[in-house]
Amino acid sequence: MNKGTIKLALIGCGLIGAEHIRAWEAVARVTGVPFKVTAVCDAERELAERAAAEVARWQRSEVTVCTRYQDLLGEHIDGLDVCLPSHLHEEIVCAALSAGVHVMVEKPLATTIAAGKRMRHEALRAGRILSLAEDHRRTPTMRTLRWLVQEKGALGNPEFVQAQRVRHQSAAPRSGWRARRASGGGGWAIDNGAHLLDALTYVLGPVRSVTATGKRIYDAHMVHSDGQAGVDEREDFLAALLVFERGTTGIFSCASSLPGADDFCFALRGTKGAVVDDGGQLFHAPLPDARVFLADGQQRALRDFHEPYLDGLSARSRERLFPFGLQHSFAVECAEFLIAVREGRDVEIDADSALRTLATSLAFYESALTQQTVLVEDVLDERVTAYQETIKPGPLESDFAQWRTRMATSGGKDEA
Ligand SMILES: NC(=O)c1ccc[n+]([C@@H]2O[C@H](COP(=O)([O-])OP(=O)(O)OC[C@H]3O[C@@H](n4cnc5c(N)ncnc54)[C@H](O)[C@@H]3O)[C@@H](O)[C@H]2O)c1
Repeated sequence: MNKGTIKLALIGCGLIGAEHIRAWEAVARVTGVPFKVTAVCDAERELAERAAAEVARWQRSEVTVCTRYQDLLGEHIDGLDVCLPSHLHEEIVCAALSAGVHVMVEKPLATTIAAGKRMRHEALRAGRILSLAEDHRRTPTMRTLRWLVQEKGALGNPEFVQAQRVRHQSAAPRSGWRARRASGGGGWAIDNGAHLLDALTYVLGPVRSVTATGKRIYDAHMVHSDGQAGVDEREDFLAALLVFERGTTGIFSCASSLPGADDFCFALRGTKGAVVDDGGQLFHAPLPDARVFLADGQQRALRDFHEPYLDGLSARSRERLFPFGLQHSFAVECAEFLIAVREGRDVEIDADSALRTLATSLAFYESALTQQTVLVEDVLDERVTAYQETIKPGPLESDFAQWRTRMATSGGKDEA
């Protein structure tokens, strides 16, 4: 038990770093555990300075600003919150762990299984916590859905899950680390879709196999952040059949460049009931309008079950799942990490669990590349690595036979 004030730092003050700073503020308002964010780091000094000023506003104490992680690790911190582009997780997380610092890192754990395993190895070797900051499963909605399916058996045997995300993004893609396979690791399945895959694993258990097709239908030309001309290397179309270990079948599809109205839908159907959200956002406010269809013919909003679910939790489970009464998912993951650092306690999503979700994400791409059904276990054990071998810095040396460039976009208009 660490009884002193816990010293934390945050690295990566971009989009999600700013969200984490708001979450730490929410934790500071309610927790009895003394902690301070003593330093922040971003390669862009201005962003780090802005983040430091924000923390100093609610914390009422000075925050050190760094632009290099090596300087940050010299600050004698207990825990580090890593909000960096995905390809940088491995190097910086391993450096922090080996310096004796506990780490919480944003999803995905890494861009390859080999990198994720090196991180797990370092955590074990150093005897430090490695926690995945995956927030969606920590929402009251996803926790309630899990309770309805696993504990109440309200849907009977879950047989079929569908998720579709169609969004026409005609605007020119933003350059940045996401557009490169070497830094983002891929598109939907490892970025936004990773949230859904983790949440569904939470509700339905692990995925056994993935049969996917993926391609880039429109070739979005862009200048990458290093000044090189290229294309957005992510898929703009992905479709997959998933089989869960428990036998549930999943159908997933995601299209980002095809015209037409946006279409988000989610449905989980069991032998006795279903949960359907047709039109709600699948990400960032998971299943806000979901309806539950029960065996007796009743139809209710999923959110109507939040209270009965929360009321039925033991005080111990409540404190674990919603520490300090927090329900905002980013604050929940931060609070859990803080308690784990203080008490040396296990975390909900440890390196093993994070690796399994990463293997599920990568199975989409391994399958799309090899045009074969891929077992998640084979990705996890590195028996299937063809796609991951293409994830390296520099120009793409190999592309998918099926994922090749077919059409070019220009000024929002499509050209053959
Ligand atoms: N949980 C979620 O909902 C969610 C949402 C978005 C992103 N993410 C994850 O968070 C991570 C960051 O994504 P983002 O959208 O915030 O990216 P971002 O590009 O907005 O921010 C990344 C920041 O890291 C800084 N940076 C880059 N290299 C650095 C280095 N060597 N040292 C210090 N700083 C460096 C950049 O200057 C930038 O400010 C990714 O792993 C992503 O998958 C999670």
